[in-house]
Formats: sequence, C-alpha cells, structure tokens
Amino acid sequence: MQHPFIIAIDGPAAAGKGTLARRLAAHFDFAYLDTGGLYRAVALSLLLDGKDPDDGDAAMAAAADLDTRLLDAPRLRDEATGAAASKVAAIPQVRSNLLEFQRNFASHPPGGKQGAVLDGRDIGTKICPEAPLKLYVTASAEERARRRTAELRDRGLRPDYADILSDVKARDARDMGRNDAPLRPADDAHLLDTTDLDIDAVFFRAVELVKEKLPPQ
Ligand code: CDP
Ligand code: CDP
Repeated sequence: MQHPFIIAIDGPAAAGKGTLARRLAAHFDFAYLDTGGLYRAVALSLLLDGKDPDDGDAAMAAAADLDTRLLDAPRLRDEATGAAASKVAAIPQVRSNLLEFQRNFASHPPGGKQGAVLDGRDIGTKICPEAPLKLYVTASAEERARRRTAELRDRGLRPDYADILSDVKARDARDMGRNDAPLRPADDAHLLDTTDLDIDAVFFRAVELVKEKLPPQ
C-alpha cells in the first residue's frame, strides 16, 4: 500500500478544526483523529480523581496508561476539561507518552483507510512534519469565543461569553507559550483565517487544497 495521505490541521481553541477535519475525513473516506481528545482524557482522569492538573507525576501516569473510555465521557468537551488539558499538555513527558499513538494512527489509519486527518496543535510541526497538506485554521479570539459559547448553549449549558473569551485567551497563551511543541503554523502550512468564513466556505477551500496535493489515482 502507498503511504497514507495525511492532512494535518492545527490551530487555536474553537477555530473550527474538528468540524473541518470531520468533514474532510467523511468526504475523502479517511480516518480521523481528534488529538485534543487525548489531552482532554488525561486531564479528565486527573479531575475525576480529584487531582490537580498541574500535578506532573499524576499526569504522566495517566498519559502512560490512557483510559480510552474517557474519550466518550460527557465531561470531555467541558471548558474546565479543556483548560486542564492545556495544563497537562505543557508537560513534556505527557506529550511524549501520547506521541506514538498519534504517529501510529497516521501511518496505519484504522479500517485500512487510504488517508488520515489529524487535528490538534502540533500535527504539522511535530507529529506528522512530513504531511503533504498542512492547514492552520484560525479566527479572532472574539469569534472563537462566540462559537464556543453558541456550542455550549446548544448543549443546554448556560455559558458566559466573557468567561469563555478569557478562557480562550488563557488557553492560547499557554498553548503558544510552552517550550515543548508550542502552537504555531508549520513553515509550509496554509493559513485559513475563518473569522468571516462559514463552515461550508472553509470546507470548499480545504477540498481544493487537498485535491491539489492528492496523488493521481
Ligand atoms: O476543533 P475546534 O475547537 O477548533 O473547533 P470546532 O469544535 O470544530 O468548532 C467550534 C464551534 O464553531 C462549532 O460549534 C462549529 O460549528 C463552529 N464553527 C463555526 O461557527 N464556523 C466555522 N467556520 C467553524 C466552526
Ligand atoms: O477543541 P479545542 O480546540 O478547544 O481543544 P482541543 O483540540 O480539544 O485541545 C485541548 C488542549 O489540548 C489544547 O488547549 C492544547 O493544550 C492540548 N493539545 C495539544 O497540546 N496538542 C495537540 N495536538 C492537541 C491538543
């Protein structure tokens, strides 16, 4: 089999990475991995045990022995879990414990698929630097906070926009400021600023970019 075709999608919180990644995976029949879910699962396991997300030893242990059942836990998508995830994600040993799983998914996509879409913060720079297509999806912090607020409302929660905005900004600062695999666009990434673009517009642009890079059948 040819090498799987990898689409690497990175960007800050609530930029629309997951929505785009899921749609591209369905369109091209590729496998999809939400790598943020792995960091969220590590963080949630600490929160459920009443531990502090800054507790490095506990975070390393949870990452070394990831409880994959937590990937389906209702609290995985909570803002508190996202905030805790960005704390455990700054610990180098946590990152290295999750590296192999992600690389293995990319090199052997489940279901024998011909390609894989991975979204996160360091896919283009660290996990799959050889990916033929890298997208850096972003939007203003205000627009991202608006989207996340609407999403939480749709889940029946009562989020406060100002709280979400400050959470988004704090997470950006932690993710961009850490020493190990900080969030930044890879040198060869395509930047997609989605502040004024709806989901369809982003998807159609990305499909064009994929088609330019896909090897001829
Ligand atoms: O994965 P990430 O955190 O980057 O974002 P997401 O979960 O894909 O998107 C966050 C929210 O923004 C979802 O509710 C999307 O439907 C919405 N969204 C949007 O309104 N416009 C876009 N261009 C992209 C996403
Ligand atoms: O969906 P959203 O963009 O809010 O966050 P996420 O993709 O679920 O990621 C949660 C946190 O995990 C991020 O704020 C990052 O700190 C961390 N993360 C990371 O460090 N590296 C990745 N490849 C994916 C996520």
